[in-house]
Amino acid sequence: MTTATSQNISDIIRERHSVRKYDTNVKISREEIVEILEEATLAPSSSNLQPWRFIVIDDQETKKELRQIAYNQEPVETSSAVIAVLGDKEMFKNIEKVYRSSFDAGFMDEANMHRLIESANRTYPHAPEEVLKNIASFDTGLVSMQLMLVAKAKGYDTVPMAGFDKQKFMDKFQVSDRYMPMVLIALGKAAAPAFKTTRIPAVELIDFI
Ligand SMILES: Cc1cc2nc3c(=O)[nH]c(=O)nc-3n(C[C@H](O)[C@H](O)[C@H](O)COP(=O)(O)O)c2cc1C
Repeated sequence: MTTATSQNISDIIRERHSVRKYDTNVKISREEIVEILEEATLAPSSSNLQPWRFIVIDDQETKKELRQIAYNQEPVETSSAVIAVLGDKEMFKNIEKVYRSSFDAGFMDEANMHRLIESANRTYPHAPEEVLKNIASFDTGLVSMQLMLVAKAKGYDTVPMAGFDKQKFMDKFQVSDRYMPMVLIALGKAAAPAFKTTRIPAVELIDFI
């Protein structure tokens, strides 16, 4: 069983592993899932445009159906909830909202707000789709990682799963083309420890120049 024993970020990082066996008796409340997502979405993003959305699947029957879309991966059905992380290719629709919110919070003056809105509006909406997709996928990676660490800090376990039929997922949950389903993150409590993994030593990956 893996539970976070310390709030130390280094311990949390070292204790997180992809758990694939879940205690089916554990139910995580929607309130707690919202709390996890509130902290996860403090992740950084390109121009703070936050190109992500989440679909939380916590209904047992729906999880069972989703398991088939996810190539029969067991955690989809046995975890407490599955959080689908979607990338928003039209993150530029957040421009006004994001900078106005910073202004309202007193973090920038009005002139600066208008300058940033204009500058973002000059670039993002005209960027090629490939660029927008890359931004959305990069940033959803950041929010997903943060989600898994926040969950671990709260004593929960996760496994990220990109192994699912994206088109079938979009059809089932009526996801518009604006969004890209990136990853399903199973959330729950481990019923058996995750198998441990190793890493390529960082020193082999680093060039100091
Ligand atoms: C983008 C992504 C997709 C993944 N997809 C799956 C998946 O479909 N099924 C699965 O069991 N694990 C999946 N994993 C988990 C990896 O296998 C796991 O993170 C890796 O082996 C390292 O193990 P650890 O997470 O326990 O440290 C995925 C991980 C990432 C980052």
